[in-house]
Amino acid sequence: MEISQDMRGVLIAKEFVVHQDAESLAAAVAQRIVTLAAQAISERGAFRIALAGGSTPRRCYELLRDMAVDWQRVHVYYGDERCLPRGDPGRNDSMAQQAWLDHVAVPADNVHAIPAELGAEAAAAEYAKLLEPALPLDIVLLGMGEDGHTASLFPGNPATEQGDAVVAVFDAPKPPPQRVSLGMPTLNAAREKIFLVAGEGKREALGKIARGIALPAARIARAEWHVDGAALPGEIVSGD
Ligand code: 6PG
Repeated sequence: MEISQDMRGVLIAKEFVVHQDAESLAAAVAQRIVTLAAQAISERGAFRIALAGGSTPRRCYELLRDMAVDWQRVHVYYGDERCLPRGDPGRNDSMAQQAWLDHVAVPADNVHAIPAELGAEAAAAEYAKLLEPALPLDIVLLGMGEDGHTASLFPGNPATEQGDAVVAVFDAPKPPPQRVSLGMPTLNAAREKIFLVAGEGKREALGKIARGIALPAARIARAEWHVDGAALPGEIVSGD
């Protein structure tokens, strides 16, 4: 399936990969993570990844359970977190723990949840201190919402324009309203930025980005996009 140059151009994508379906997308991203982890560990002795929330990455996380990684050298952060009590099933870290981290030997001290239960401001300040020595991250995994948000950086929200390493988010249109997110500079500074975007619900936002509308997801420069066919806006696809 050939992607027209526009899509690559507008997204200033480092790579734009279209997968047959969500399962093959998940498998491809899981393999990318394994490859990049081995590279980071060999070059720097550690692999630092910030995880995406939402539902799309779940299958990728499940596949990672059984893949060969030197888990002792893996450090896990989060791209964003919802301000819910610790352990709440609606939290992004709950999903990642259940789908993946509870099943592999990453040392507990290497998993760095965002203390979002403290409230957005306090959690953002605390996480910024914890995160600083780990920057730049090797990978930030990212989803994209139907409005083109990524992490918890939403269109038109003041947090999206802030230059802080970690930002407090209020009035998020996707519940809960209070969140904590890595700031745009932190996301962009990662060595690799990998999007997982699947389902026809994302078609409209991708179409807007392809037409040059700078939604938050489009402001992640030189990202590696993994998209399934269902999410591709029709006008983008040319040929087979
Ligand atoms: C969240 C995520 C958010 C998510 C997108 C896509 O808290 O929901 O951080 O950025 O990645 O909204 O979500 P889906 O993968 O569920 O479509």
